[in-house]
Amino acid sequence: MTSSILEVENLTASIGGQQVTEDVSFSVPATGVTALLGRNGVGKTSTLRGILGLISRRGRIVLDGKEIQSLPTHRIVQRGVGYVPEDREVFSKLTVAENLRIAERDAQPRRELVAELFPDLVERSGQAAGTLSGGQQQMVSLARALINDNRLLLVDEPTKGLAPKIVTEVATALESAAQIAPVLLVEQNLQVVRRLAHDVIVLSGGRVVYTGTASELLDDPELTRRHLGVHAESEAGA
Ligand SMILES: Nc1ncnc2c1ncn2[C@@H]1O[C@H](COP(=O)(O)OP(=O)(O)OP(=O)(O)O)[C@@H](O)[C@H]1O
Ligand SMILES: [Mg+2]
Repeated sequence: MTSSILEVENLTASIGGQQVTEDVSFSVPATGVTALLGRNGVGKTSTLRGILGLISRRGRIVLDGKEIQSLPTHRIVQRGVGYVPEDREVFSKLTVAENLRIAERDAQPRRELVAELFPDLVERSGQAAGTLSGGQQQMVSLARALINDNRLLLVDEPTKGLAPKIVTEVATALESAAQIAPVLLVEQNLQVVRRLAHDVIVLSGGRVVYTGTASELLDDPELTRRHLGVHAESEAGA
């Protein structure tokens, strides 16, 4: 058995008393990218937010051998879970440098590593983040998670709404990020999934309906269609 960084067991999450996931169980290996897939509204974001304790949840969540399901969000973050939310959520009026500085949690933030991974951001360090392109804002959001020594990154739809060429750039950045910390990636672009992910988990209606390797799923057009409602080859850009 390969070691896992995260075990999720019977995660049932709710928003405002309304249940949004039910008995979700999966594990995330300690290396590489694991993709969390599914059609719109199936509970992918809620699963990430449940793991972080941002919404109320039941079940068992084990990070690197320790249970975290009863911890408040700030303790989970301190234990090394980085979050790159859907829609990036940079501070638009702050500069790139300020966005990074405000994200620094550790005594020794990894500024050099981030500068090496994102040279474009160094060049734009004085620019207001709100004036960056979508792809550049995504790099800022990823850089904020990488500046701390995280054990796991939760990354939600990083390529959403980006042009194909930029999708490829973001995928390359994610590939580098995954060399540094394992990534649980929510992603709709199946070319990106194919390029980056080893294992996949598919949700439907708040439940896990498939787990396996990315190639097992994506090489089988019927399985892909059934679970994701799309053809693996019809998606552009990676
Ligand atoms: N703030 C909210 N209040 C009430 N219900 C919500 C809220 N956010 C999400 N939901 C509901 O929870 C369910 C799961 O939503 P979630 O955002 O987790 O799905 P998702 O798989 O991330 O979707 P998408 O692909 O659109 O990002 C949906 O039925 C959605 O309508
Ligand atoms: Mg979502």
